[in-house]
Amino acid sequence: MADRPKVVLGVAGGIAAYKACELLRRLTESGHEVTVVPTASALHFVGEATWSALSGRPVSTEVWKDVHEVPHVRTGKAADLVVVAPATADLLAKAAHGLADDLLTNTLLTARCPVVFAPAMHTEMWEHPATRENVATLRRRGAIVVEPAVGRLTGVDTGKGRLPDPGEIFEVCRRALARGAGEPDLAGRHVVISAGGTREPLDPVRFLGNRSSGKQGFALARTAVARGARVTLIEANTGLADPAGADVVHVGTALELRDAALKAVADADAVVMAAAVADFRPAAYATGKIKKKDGAEPAPLELVRNPDILAELSAVRPVPGQVVVGFAAETDDVLDNGRAKLRRKGCDLLVVNEVGVDKTFGAAESEAVVLAADGGETVVPYGPKEALADTVWDLVAPRLPRS
Ligand code: CTP
Repeated sequence: MADRPKVVLGVAGGIAAYKACELLRRLTESGHEVTVVPTASALHFVGEATWSALSGRPVSTEVWKDVHEVPHVRTGKAADLVVVAPATADLLAKAAHGLADDLLTNTLLTARCPVVFAPAMHTEMWEHPATRENVATLRRRGAIVVEPAVGRLTGVDTGKGRLPDPGEIFEVCRRALARGAGEPDLAGRHVVISAGGTREPLDPVRFLGNRSSGKQGFALARTAVARGARVTLIEANTGLADPAGADVVHVGTALELRDAALKAVADADAVVMAAAVADFRPAAYATGKIKKKDGAEPAPLELVRNPDILAELSAVRPVPGQVVVGFAAETDDVLDNGRAKLRRKGCDLLVVNEVGVDKTFGAAESEAVVLAADGGETVVPYGPKEALADTVWDLVAPRLPRS
């Protein structure tokens, strides 16, 4: 097939190289033409025969093979997407500094398509200022660097640095390919997203909660990663697996969400409050389980107000020009209530959803109207939550502060 999307799968020398086999399988099975370019050290972990057999194509690591075909230029130029998984600290450093001493690093210099790096390394290496700066440089230039996952590392260590699940990396690749060439519009930006629903504890076994599934917030996180952003996802009680590429902060209550949000927005270009935050919490928390007393009427439940986080974020804006986006769940007079809420909260954009037992909450699809403080109104027809997420970023991107 002539028009299959061409993907270069770069593999650097880390133990996680074996997981790239699964990514390769997914890419080929979904109709991509994949050229695997391992580094010489990657071949210590998974051999040439495996890459060749799984991709159905020859495999080369250095620029001196088939020199007349100029593979170091051709491979990168022809690619629709380059993904490096795993990307070691060494590979990230070379890419950030434009070094080109093998076929993969040459390919990275000649590629003009979206480039995805999926790093995997020990936590100390990931956190070292040298790696942090290299990652920031690559992101600033438009590369998508997915955040490593947290968990068991090689040996007995655990921490941040695991290669994300190959299925998640595949999703990032699929979205980056769909968006095509050109610098991703959120490259070099930090965006903060809250997702899920807060739970306000009454006693050790009970809480006041809501029906939010977190799917919309997760869709916002995934699409922002694919558009090149550094993403902090503040997650409340969703039970969903962490999306690849996002820094995930887990919270339970509205007060915890507020603390996490205020911290995360300190250097953020945009914040999207997709979480359903409880307006009230029980006035008192019983440290022991509340028992019913035979024959007695239940004690009335006393509630106190939670802070309005969205209104606070709209007022604070520690980064000048920071874009603040809210969601409004409404059951009646949807647009009128939405407009009033936009003014009351002081945010730039408000995504207004009509909710009901079968509508929006928990569903994979939704419809919405996005109201802008400057008067704009964007109708998003019924469709996947990812499409709504992309529309939100389409509206956020031109409003971002100058970088
Ligand atoms: N929100 C918030 N803090 C709260 C309550 C809500 O930050 N204490 C945010 C939500 O994350 C959402 C937006 O405000 O982005 C709107 O939430 P919604 O529940 O629709 O609005 P309410 O403020 O609860 O208004 P009302 O009770 O009038 O519907």
